[in-house]
Amino acid sequence: MRRRRATPLLRDIVAETSLNTSQLVYPLFVSEASGSPEPIESMPGVHRYPIEKLVDEVGRALGLGIRSFLLFGIPASKDAVGSGAYSREGVIQQALRRMREAFGKDVLLIADTCMCEYTSHGHCGYLSGNTVDNDKSLELLSKTAVSQAEAGADLVAPSAMMDHQVRAIRRALDSEDFMDTLIMSYSAKYASCFYGPFRTAADSAPSFGDRRSYQMDPRNGNEALDEIASDIEEGADIVMVKPALPYLDVIREASKAFTQPLAAYQVSGEYTMIRAAAAKGFLDEKLAVLETVGAIRRAGARIIITYFAPAIAEWLAS
Ligand code: PBG
Repeated sequence: MRRRRATPLLRDIVAETSLNTSQLVYPLFVSEASGSPEPIESMPGVHRYPIEKLVDEVGRALGLGIRSFLLFGIPASKDAVGSGAYSREGVIQQALRRMREAFGKDVLLIADTCMCEYTSHGHCGYLSGNTVDNDKSLELLSKTAVSQAEAGADLVAPSAMMDHQVRAIRRALDSEDFMDTLIMSYSAKYASCFYGPFRTAADSAPSFGDRRSYQMDPRNGNEALDEIASDIEEGADIVMVKPALPYLDVIREASKAFTQPLAAYQVSGEYTMIRAAAAKGFLDEKLAVLETVGAIRRAGARIIITYFAPAIAEWLAS
C-alpha cells in the first residue's frame, strides 16, 4: 500500500475523490440595513451584508471561481405570518434582482425558502395556537417560492421540513410559468444544535418550543431515505442532507440509494467549531476544512454548501 503513497503525484493520481470550486455553494446573509457589512459574533468571519455590499462580496467570490450562492434574508421587521418572506419588496427579492442585474447569468442564485427568519415567533411555518400547521404553511412557502422565482432565483431551496412542501412548491411554480426554476430540497434536515450560530445570525431561534415536530430526529437514519424518496417523487431536482459531518452515514446511504444530485450542508456550528479551535491554535484551519469537506465528498455528496467556500477556492488555487 505504501508504494502508492510515496509521492504527491502518485497520491494525486490514485485519489478516489476530488474537490473542485464548481461543487461549492457559498451561503450569504443579506440584510435590509444599510452601511457596512455587520460581523456575526457567533460565526467569526461571516457578515450580514446590506444589498450593495452583497454585490461586492459576490463579486469577490466570483473572482475566486465560486459561482453558486445561497441567499438568506434578514428582514428589518417580522410578523406572525412572515410576510417579509413573500413580499415583492422583501429583502431577498430585492437582493435577487440586484444580483441578477449585477452578474447576469454568471451566477447561480439559490434562495432559502423558509419562514423562520421572517416570523415573529421564529417557527418555520404558520402557527395555529402552539402548533405549526402543515398545510397552511405550504401556502406561505409556495407564495415565497414563486416570489423568489419571480425575483430571479434559479433554484428555490425549501428548508421548512413541512410534509409535501416540494409538491406544493412545484405546482405553484409550474402554474405561474416558472417551469425552469429548480427545487433544491433540504430533504433530510435534522433538528440539530449545530444551527445555533445561524439562529443568532438570523435572529431566527423559535421564541418557544423547538423544531423537533418538523425537523428530523438525529437518532434516525432510514427515515432520511424516506424523506429523500418522497421529495424526489414530489419533484425535487437536488436533494440535501443537513448538517453534514455528523451525518456522513446518511450522506453515504443516500448517495448509494438515489441517483439524483445530492448536496450536503456544512452548517454554521460545523463552521464555528473549526474557526474557534483554529483561533485558539488548537487546529490548523486549512487542514481541518479540507479534511472535513473532503470527507463529505468521500461520503457521497456532489454539492457542498459551506461558509468556507471562498477560503477553499483560494486554497485550491494556491
Ligand atoms: C431555516 C434554515 C436554518 C438553516 C438553514 N436554513 C436554520 C434552522 O433550521 O433553524 C441553518 C443553516 C446553518 O446553521 O448554517 N431557514
